[in-house]
Formats: sequence, structure tokens, C-alpha cells
Amino acid sequence: MAYQTLIVEIEDSVALIRLNRPDALNALNSQMLGELAEALKALDGNDKVRCIVLTGSEKAFAAGADIKEMSEKTFVDMFGADYFAPEGEAIARVRKPIIAAVSGYALGGGCELAMMCDFIICSETAKFGQPEINLGVVAGIGGTQRLTRFVGKSKSMDMHLTGRFMDAAEAERSGLVSRVVAPGKLVPEALAIAKKIAEKSALTVMAVKEAVNRSYETTLREGVLFERRLFHALFATEDQKEGMGAFLEKRQPQFRDR
Ligand code: HXC
Repeated sequence: MAYQTLIVEIEDSVALIRLNRPDALNALNSQMLGELAEALKALDGNDKVRCIVLTGSEKAFAAGADIKEMSEKTFVDMFGADYFAPEGEAIARVRKPIIAAVSGYALGGGCELAMMCDFIICSETAKFGQPEINLGVVAGIGGTQRLTRFVGKSKSMDMHLTGRFMDAAEAERSGLVSRVVAPGKLVPEALAIAKKIAEKSALTVMAVKEAVNRSYETTLREGVLFERRLFHALFATEDQKEGMGAFLEKRQPQFRDR
């Protein structure tokens, strides 16, 4: 499938999506988010793909929602279109893991898009921020909610109220990203992580994703029960027999997604 604002490649069970509007630092417009939702849906349904990496350019993962596209819009336009809600929901429906690989700016909607992925790794050059306050608006695709869950209230308030940027070291220290890698190593490292995940049972991978994401949506007690039921249910799979059998036989497991 050819896209105008994305480059999509598939290699060794891993799909790499590059946001590609270099002239606007990958600012997210309706076309790009629409194409991204479409691409993710297609990759989720593609048997050759087991894990997805989403990245931008060296200078910018994405510098926010497209200010040119938004500047003249009215409340009626934004509310009427439920601006970026369908695309956000499409991303949340993807069952395969999505790793955000962030180099350079991840601002506003760019930071929010990275946080919608399952985890974030970044280059030492990364700069995260929610600078919407400088434009007279607030975050609109989950930033006030997700950043607070990632880094806690104090830092989230600081970021949203001042619009300041967080560098890679601070992002790692505060739990926004899982790893920081040297510039130039970001995409190879993200692909290597994705390939490791692609070797696991796809059933177990989906179960992990559902269980961890449930921790955002429910109480501890309900979340632990949900996890326990998934744990029990996986004993109905051949992959559980293969995984545990392989350990006992001191060999590598060969998962078949059954
Ligand atoms: C549209 C953008 C853009 C954006 C950059 N560009 N960010 N266009 N929307 N969010 C464009 C610039 O207009 C410029 O185009 C080109 O990209 C290069 O940007 P420069 O500003 O010249 O680069 P630089 O001086 O290096 O500064 C980089 C920057 C700055 C610090 C990232 O561009 C910046 O502050 N951008 C806006 C960041 C922001 O406020 N993001 C939040 C958006 S609101 P030209 O044509 O002039 O060369 C948001 C809400 C989400 O995200 C909620 C959605 C529902």
C-alpha cells in the first residue's frame, strides 16, 4: 500500500512505519493520522507482521498536530469532526505491539502519539513536550491523562503548564521511555527489540498487551483478576506446553501461535 505521508517497510516479521512530512517536522495533519490508522489496521491484519515500530526522522518524531491545519478551525469544526478521536481509537485497537522510536522532537500530538504506543525508546537527542499552552489550547489526544500516568502529577503539571521540553535523560529517569540509545542507533535498536518480541508466541504477546493496558483502566483488584484469568487461559494453548516443555528439555521454544 502506498502512502503519501508514511513510509512502511516489512522485514523479518517486523513492520517499520516512518512518519514522513519532513518539511513540517512530521506535524500530524488529518491525512497523516488517517493514513497511520489505515496502515496500522492493515499491519494488524497482516500475518507476516508480528511487531510494529513507529518512528519519525532524526530531527523530529513529530512536532505536534499541524498548527496550519488547525489555526482557523472553530469549535463546531473540531467537535463536529471529533478531531483525531477516530484515529486515536484505531491506534488503541491494534493488538500487535507498537514500539515508538523517538529521535528529536516529540511535542504536543507527537508526544501523545508516542505515548499511545506500547512503549517508547528514544535517542539521546529526543525532546518531549506538551507546549499546547503556548498556543492557547490544551493537549487533545490524551496528553494530560497519559503523561500524568507515565511521570506523575507534579512533572506532568510542570510540562503542561510551562510548555517546557524534557530531554532524553529526564524522560528515562521519569519513566516516560524504557531505554535511551545513541543517535544513529535508534532504528536498528528498535528493530532488534521488535524482532525479539516477534519470536514469542503471538497469543502470549497479545495477552501481555491486554493485561498491562488494563492496569490503566481499572482497579488493582480487577486488574489482578483479569491477569489471573489470562494466565489460566494460556494453559489451554499449545504454546504454553511448548514454552514450558522447551525449558525442561533445555532447548529454545518453537512457538506456533496455537
Ligand atoms: C505545523 C510545523 C509544526 C506544527 C513545525 N512546523 N512544527 N507546522 N505544525 N506543529 C513547521 C514550521 O512551521 C516550519 O515550516 C518547519 O516545520 C520547520 O520548523 P521550524 O520552527 O523552522 O524549526 P525549528 O526552528 O528547528 O523549531 C523546531 C520546533 C518548532 C521547536 C519543533 O517548530 C515548534 O515549536 N513547533 C511547534 C511545536 C508545537 O507547538 N507543537 C504542539 C502543536 S498543538 P516552514 O514552512 O516555516 O519552513 C498539538 C495539539 C495536539 O499538538 C492535539 C490534537 C487533537
